Amino acid sequence: MNIGIITLFPEMFTALEASISGRAIRNKIITLQCWQLRDFATDKHKTVDDKPYGGGPGMLMKVSPLLAAITTAKQQLGPNTKTIYLSPQGKTFTQQAAQKLAAQKSLLFIAGRYEGIDERLIESTIDEEWSIGDYVLTGGELAAMVMIDAMVRLLPGALGDAESAEQDSFSQSLLDYPHYTRPEEINGLKVPVVLLSGDHAAIARWRRQQALGRTWQRRPELLSQLKLSAEDQQLLNDFIKELSPPP
Ligand code: ADE
Repeated sequence: MNIGIITLFPEMFTALEASISGRAIRNKIITLQCWQLRDFATDKHKTVDDKPYGGGPGMLMKVSPLLAAITTAKQQLGPNTKTIYLSPQGKTFTQQAAQKLAAQKSLLFIAGRYEGIDERLIESTIDEEWSIGDYVLTGGELAAMVMIDAMVRLLPGALGDAESAEQDSFSQSLLDYPHYTRPEEINGLKVPVVLLSGDHAAIARWRRQQALGRTWQRRPELLSQLKLSAEDQQLLNDFIKELSPPP
């Protein structure tokens, strides 16, 4: 997958050279290329912001450098590149969106700064507008990195066997079950006995029940989107029963 980013802060993206995305770059699973928006400004002050029509506080990103940068980036990345703009007004990014975008050959991220970009640019040059959550960042760079990180780990070969993405939280619209490692006791808290039993079927059942139960407790709206099997429903009923004190 070829990934391009138009940004005023390309140095932020060096963070992606670490860890799993870094390994994906070195193994040529992805290519990553930044375009510095300021390089496309044509005046002697290298202006990249402009005043909003109608007045009000804040500035917008200047249109001509952005258009020039998008044209250059798309020429390099190819005509089938999907162009993504990051802003709090976008659709909320999810694991499902990560899976869908991970199937693309080529993506171009536009990291907004200031109050954003001209609406006509969104209409004419942007394919998808995404937000990473209901809060306001100082720019789209961190949002682009979050999306890239979530997508890259889904690409074939990006994770080692020990890091498989199949068991991820959300991959089946459920939260993950709790995990335990050595020692068997920490501050008086013991590892659930079933995990020490060696009974793989019982362990799988317990983990499924915990995933269902925790989703029910913490993110009930995720659970209501699912059609549970009779077996899952029974596991969840038992989980809930164990929580409520006996009469
Ligand atoms: N830019 C500023 N805030 C953002 C957010 N929450 N998601 C994506 N891009 C942003």
